[in-house]
Amino acid sequence: MRENYNDRMIGESSSFLSVQEQVSRLAPLNKPALIIGERGTGKELVAARVHYLSERWGQAYLKVNCAAISESLIESELFGHELGAFSGAIRLHRGYFERAHGGTLFLDEIATTSPRVQEKLLRLIEYGELIRVGGDEVIEVDVRLVAASNSDLPGLARKNRFRSDLLDRLAFDVITLPPLRFRDEDISLLADYFAVRMVKELDREYFPGFSAEATQSMREYSWPGNVRELKNVVERAVYRSENPDDPIDQIIYDPFDSPYRVLAHADSTKTDNDMKVGPGPDSLTLPVPQIRDLKQYIQSMEIKIIHETWESCQFNQRKTAEKLGLTYHQLRAYKRKHSLFSTGQAL
Ligand SMILES: Nc1ncnc2c1ncn2[C@@H]1O[C@H](COP(=O)(O)OP(=O)(O)OP(=O)(O)O)[C@@H](O)[C@H]1O
Ligand SMILES: [Mg+2]
Repeated sequence: MRENYNDRMIGESSSFLSVQEQVSRLAPLNKPALIIGERGTGKELVAARVHYLSERWGQAYLKVNCAAISESLIESELFGHELGAFSGAIRLHRGYFERAHGGTLFLDEIATTSPRVQEKLLRLIEYGELIRVGGDEVIEVDVRLVAASNSDLPGLARKNRFRSDLLDRLAFDVITLPPLRFRDEDISLLADYFAVRMVKELDREYFPGFSAEATQSMREYSWPGNVRELKNVVERAVYRSENPDDPIDQIIYDPFDSPYRVLAHADSTKTDNDMKVGPGPDSLTLPVPQIRDLKQYIQSMEIKIIHETWESCQFNQRKTAEKLGLTYHQLRAYKRKHSLFSTGQAL
């Protein structure tokens, strides 16, 4: 888990810097920490920082994603179980809390835990005690709890879906991570950081930077998947850039985007009659496809026509432009607009 600490946290926006300051202040205390943030905002990185900036840094740092373990298993995974506690419990099992003794346990997605587990967590925070499943011996452990969630925990507590007393104990200091769309200044910084790392990974000599259009488009995008999404998009852009000396100008946000996607969307249950307009069989019939999103449809048709012409011109861009009645530069502009042909030959 040490690599988490080496993963640098990049950012210089004021909201990012104030989170960093809060983390540095909270880390040395022997108190639970609660980290809240949308997906991909860096909760796991912050949790590791809390541990490695504390006096416990040389001790165990264990992580559990509560959402990834079934409800029936999580209690024994966290608190352990005695031999014979349930069928299949063929030996005594020391849970995460016992194994993290002296160190830190990071409980990710804590909102998904059952009331029973929440009750045991409260006891652990209040008294530093646990009882293994199927046992009666009280075991003392010294573990700092760091929890994370992307849910509205106070809202869940109001609806009795999360224990308020546990929330009170966890919420000694709540670190709320700002979504990327609220810290524009960090977008270029992070994009360059991930691009340089990808360039190294691909054994390329240097990073040529992003074009002005690409930078602008990344700043305007809303990044629902936050830093994780940015990292993936940037890595893809570097990987797909065809000439390592040219600034990167194709940013593909959705790797599933394809001229053929519309075909896959087409509703195969439609009959020929569904595609006709007009009052009856004698009237003029026009094949009008079922369109749910006109803009997207037109865009897909543009891509499809350019792609097919390009292929029929044996990938010769000047001929393709000529055939479509476009100038060479207009064709290049289409390429940029649609991030076209990124895995094949460049237009
Ligand atoms: N400020 C940052 N600087 C550099 N990398 C970052 C930063 N914030 C996040 N990352 C990177 O973004 C990715 C997502 O971060 P992380 O896993 O910590 O997010 P998360 O909030 O735990 O997401 P989820 O809710 O989906 O589990 C990781 O690869 C992480 O290294
Ligand atoms: Mg996470």
